[in-house]
Formats: sequence, C-alpha cells, structure tokens
Amino acid sequence: MPLVDSFGRTIDYLRLSVTDRCNFRCVYCMPEEGSPVSPKASILTYEELTRLATIAVSLGMTKLRLTGGEPLVRKDIERLVKAIGGIPGVRDLSLTTNGYLLDRYAEEFKRGGLSRVNISLDTLKPERFTRIARRGDLEGVWKGIEASLSAGLTPLKLNCVVMRGYNEDEIADFARLTLDTPLHIRFIELMPINWSSGDDSGVGMADFFALSAMPGYLQNEKIAVYARADKNLTQVLKERSNEGQGMLDSAQMRRAFVPASEMRLRIEEELGELTPADLQTNGPASAFRLTRPDGLPAPGTVGFISQITKDVCRNCNRLRLTSDGQLRPCLMADGEADLRTPLRSGASDEEIAEIFRSVVVHKPFEHRLEDGIAPTGRNMSQLGG
Ligand code: GTP
Ligand code: 5AD
Ligand code: SF4
Repeated sequence: MPLVDSFGRTIDYLRLSVTDRCNFRCVYCMPEEGSPVSPKASILTYEELTRLATIAVSLGMTKLRLTGGEPLVRKDIERLVKAIGGIPGVRDLSLTTNGYLLDRYAEEFKRGGLSRVNISLDTLKPERFTRIARRGDLEGVWKGIEASLSAGLTPLKLNCVVMRGYNEDEIADFARLTLDTPLHIRFIELMPINWSSGDDSGVGMADFFALSAMPGYLQNEKIAVYARADKNLTQVLKERSNEGQGMLDSAQMRRAFVPASEMRLRIEEELGELTPADLQTNGPASAFRLTRPDGLPAPGTVGFISQITKDVCRNCNRLRLTSDGQLRPCLMADGEADLRTPLRSGASDEEIAEIFRSVVVHKPFEHRLEDGIAPTGRNMSQLGG
C-alpha cells in the first residue's frame, strides 16, 4: 500500500540530505563564511541512512534523491550510492549536486545504481560564476556535466536560479543549449528562504507575492516589463556596493526576483514558441520544448519551477530527511519528526515506519509563505533544496 496523505497525494519520493556542508557559497544560499553546520555526531551514518531508505522503500517510497548541502563533499559518497542503489525496489535513485566534483564520480555512481543527476548552474560566464557561487569555477562544473552525459546519468537536468542583476540576461542562452544537447534546463524562481535575514527594511513575504501575482504582469506588456526590469536592475546595481560577504538579504532577494512568466517571455522572444513537453521524471517543474531552426523538436527541454505560485504544492509527492535525521513533510514550513533518536535507541523497523506514516498524515496541503509563515530554523543547505 503506497503512502497517501490527507489530501489524496501519493507520497512516493524521499529526499535524503547527506550533509549540510558545501564547497560553494551561492549568494542566495549561504554567507561567505558558510552557514553553521551540525556536529559530526548528529549526522546520520551511511548505515543509518541505508536503513531508513530501506524502510522508506518498503513503504512505497521508491524514488530516492540524495541532496546536501553538497552531497559530494561527504567522504566516500560512492559507498552510500552503492548501498542505496542496491536496495531492492528502488526505481529512481537520483542526486542533486553543484557538479563541481562530479567528473571524478560519474562512472562509479552509474555502476552503483544512480539513475540520474540534477546539477545547479546559474551562469555560463566564468567571471559571473565567481560572483554568484563564490567558490569553484565554471570549467569544473562543465566537466561534471559532460562526464554525467557520457556516463548515462540521464535525463540530466540543470537547475538555474534566475536573479535580476546577476543572470537574467542569460535565460535565452541557457535555453539555446537544449536545441543541440539533451539537457533539461529548469529555471527556478528565487525563493525567499531565510528571508528575514540581514537588513529587512520592512520587506515581507507579501512583497514577493505582490510581485509575482501582479495582474497581467508581463503577459501583454512587453515594454512595460522591460522598463520595470531595467528599473530593478539599476536598484540592484546600486546595491552591489553593499553586497559584502554575506548572502542576499530579503530586500535584495525581492529586487532580484524574476517571475517565471518573464523568463518564458524572454525565451520565446528570442527562440520562438515553447510547446508543452512530457518529461517523465519531472517533479516540481513544468516542461516545454523549443523547435530547432531545421523544424525538428529540440532534444532537450526547458522548465520553470515557481515556488511562489504554489504549482509545486498541488502535486507534491515527497518527504525530506535532513542530514541530522529529522523527517520533514514540507520544505517551506517548519515542523519535523525526529528519526535519529529512535534510530539510535533501538527502535524496530515497524516503529520507524510508523513515524513515516504520521509525518505523511501531517503533511500540509501547501506552504503559507504569503501569510508570513516561512521556515525559520534552517536554510536551504540544511534543508536539502
Ligand atoms: P526531479 O525529480 O528531477 O524533478 O527533481 P526535483 O526538481 O524534485 O529536485 P531538485 O533537487 O533538482 O530541485 C529543484 C528545485 O525544486 C529546487 O529549487 C528545490 O528547492 C525545488 N524543490 C524541490 N523539492 C521541493 C519541495 O518539496 N517543495 C518546494 N516548494 N520546492 C521544492
Ligand atoms: N531560491 C531558489 N533556489 C534555491 N536553491 C538554493 N537556494 C535557493 C533559493 N533561495 C536551489 C539551488 C539548487 C536547488 C537544489 O535549490 O540552486 O539548484
Ligand atoms: Fe550553492 Fe547548493 Fe552549496 Fe547552497 S548548497 S551554496 S545552493 S551549491
């Protein structure tokens, strides 16, 4: 019997964060000095993770994803991939990574049972890479992408967080990659995780909603849109002087926010119409395809992930396990059940399965960011993206 929540959604997908550490410092995720990390003793061991994954699979959670922080910074990660990949009944084992260390692991992961990877990449320009991720380099990530394609870790998805003043002028360049290569680019709306950090200047969650829900925002008003975009860009540029070492605060995030509708428009203006596509493995993203100049459909797809507009919630099929062993029913709301304590004090598989069931029952229907209810305790690297 699959797990079904109180709203009739089948919960068949578990995201396991294997570490809260990261070798990058993306401006929307972490301050330059890094986020606080859990003590080693609180982090689940590979044996503990494998046991929990086995219980989850026995409950019908047959899609598993390893996340971080950055999962590849954890020592001997290939050992975990192999252990989880070998659990009978796993149908889709995937990994979300910044791609930087991936070229050395891709083949071994594939042999260990990994089906596919999603790689974060926010720019195709080396100097911007340094500005956004503040560690690593574009070349390293690109090697990881190529190694994954040749190892057959596919469909390969690229996650691109779009930010005004940082990379919004590269949207069409990313989309163009899909014309010749089977890459699945997903453009992500900036999410106000940790939105109350830094100088808040009275900016609230409602401002994000006002921005994305503005009537007719962009639909038929191209000129107005770009005018508005330019104004925001000027603001962002002005703010660069105090960008500093931290991460973007909520006022900066609000100004950098680009709604999915604008992303789509920018692509269609330059590359022609997007037609709906079916991408079997897609979670929160909608998928579309471009037509090549020779009239053939593009081998890759383009998708949009919009948190603010709640498309994700309606079809949500997942739970997430933090690296310190807490099971969360929702990315965007506080509330988690402790699995680590029972795990370490002799609980039976059935007792642990019961905790999974109760978390499913308590899964909220949707996030309530617009009411100002946002996750406060953890940031993205601690939540597993
Ligand atoms: P696929 O199964 O390949 O579609 O993966 P995915 O999109 O579920 O996972 P990925 O780790 O690539 O996440 C892409 C984006 O979706 C990230 O920005 C995540 O924060 C967002 N996302 C993933 N899971 C959730 C979720 O449960 N809720 C919300 N609101 N966003 C999520
Ligand atoms: N808003 C949107 N996406 C984010 N990610 C991390 N932080 C944020 C944020 N504040 C993305 C990463 C990665 C995915 C797992 O989550 O870029 O692609
Ligand atoms: Fe960037 Fe992901 Fe690392 Fe956060 S966890 S700093 S989004 S690579």
